[in-house]
Amino acid sequence: MGRSEPLTGTRARRPLLAGNWKLFKDSAEGAVFISELASVIGQHEDREVLVAPTFVGLHEAVGAAEGTGIGIAAQDVFWEEEGAFTGEVSAIALAALGVGAVIIGHSERRQYFGETDNWVALKVRAALDYGLLPIVCVGESQEERSAGLTEEMLSTQVPVGLSSVKAAEAAELAIAYEPIWAIGTGLTATPDMAQEAAAFIRDQVALALGNEAAGLVRVLYGGSVKPDNVDELMAMPDIDGALVGGASLDVESFSRIVSYRRA
Ligand code: PGA
Repeated sequence: MGRSEPLTGTRARRPLLAGNWKLFKDSAEGAVFISELASVIGQHEDREVLVAPTFVGLHEAVGAAEGTGIGIAAQDVFWEEEGAFTGEVSAIALAALGVGAVIIGHSERRQYFGETDNWVALKVRAALDYGLLPIVCVGESQEERSAGLTEEMLSTQVPVGLSSVKAAEAAELAIAYEPIWAIGTGLTATPDMAQEAAAFIRDQVALALGNEAAGLVRVLYGGSVKPDNVDELMAMPDIDGALVGGASLDVESFSRIVSYRRA
């Protein structure tokens, strides 16, 4: 369809609110949560809402989300379609289940499971090939920020992690800026800090994929997003959404986050 295709993509910069449940909630709890969330938030065409259960909760979550407008994301994916890879789950299997998105390169996977930027690139490619929206996580540690290395980290993580992406795919991709020191700590980046990093990430996308792609890619903020700080974060021009951990486990707090108001 030529280069105008991404501009007509329904996903172009539509605000995205995603809950990462990590290793919480079994299948039944996840399904109940989704039904309750759906009844609180109702229809929400102007924003995209996702929750990410564990792999074993995906099937029931997809069923519970049917007809609600809530999408289901996985927390990881492997890049091969099939083979002798014990314990892994492929993008084709996730897509067949009705999963629509996948978190890739979360700092917990990098820290505890040895995930690298090169793996991220392979996983992003696999996700895109099977129509899954990759949510690529990047961000610096406390030591790196203190040492003034935030931009250096981001200027590696973004281009390497996105090295398998074509410019025309930018609208089908989200990048989450998640400073590690803000994850699960209650320390949120200030809106200005988050904006500065989000704008820098967008600049990196422009360098890697061009200005048009940079204008279409969604940049999220993650790290202790809560009902009382979401509005000011979402008011920032380069922040198109939030990736939420702890506060996505409770219907009341996550529904308030989803229903953020532009400050
Ligand atoms: P948090 O987690 O909201 O609990 O800080 C965010 C994340 O890990 O994506």
